[in-house]
Amino acid sequence: MIYTSLPDSGLSEDSLVDILKDAQIYNIKHGISGFLVSTNDKLIQLIEGKKEDVTKLFDIISNDQRHHDIVIAYEGYSENRCMPFLGMGLCFNYLVRHLDHRFYFTKNQAKDFNGLIEGNIGQLFKSYLS
Ligand SMILES: Cc1cc2nc3c(=O)[nH]c(=O)nc-3n(C[C@H](O)[C@H](O)[C@H](O)COP(=O)(O)O)c2cc1C
Repeated sequence: MIYTSLPDSGLSEDSLVDILKDAQIYNIKHGISGFLVSTNDKLIQLIEGKKEDVTKLFDIISNDQRHHDIVIAYEGYSENRCMPFLGMGLCFNYLVRHLDHRFYFTKNQAKDFNGLIEGNIGQLFKSYLS
């Protein structure tokens, strides 16, 4: 699944890094992989895993008051995952420097993972990484 949303003003870089830390625990426990890109005023997140696990996590995330205008951009089934690890990768597309976090990726690194997303939805993801 891929959704887009708009962050609330309180959703700072630090809060996203905090979310990332919690997400590793939950996502790894539930066999979920994914990637979250923040452009400062927009978010896009890929969530991969068993359908019921993805649906449950999306339900939690979509009830999170720290973002709004959540729109599902893609839902589909594939034998293969885009992400090579369980957990959640994060990229701030406006940062050139690398944050000191195991699951933080620069946008060039992010393009490699998300390059596997095909078609229009791949283009949408890429637009968040330009
Ligand atoms: C944009 C965004 C993405 C998130 N992604 C995840 C995620 O991938 N995994 C996760 O466990 N929590 C994620 N969260 C956090 C959850 O919404 C929620 O805060 C977290 O599961 C803790 O819930 P609790 O405070 O009820 O324990 C995300 C939150 C936001 C705002």
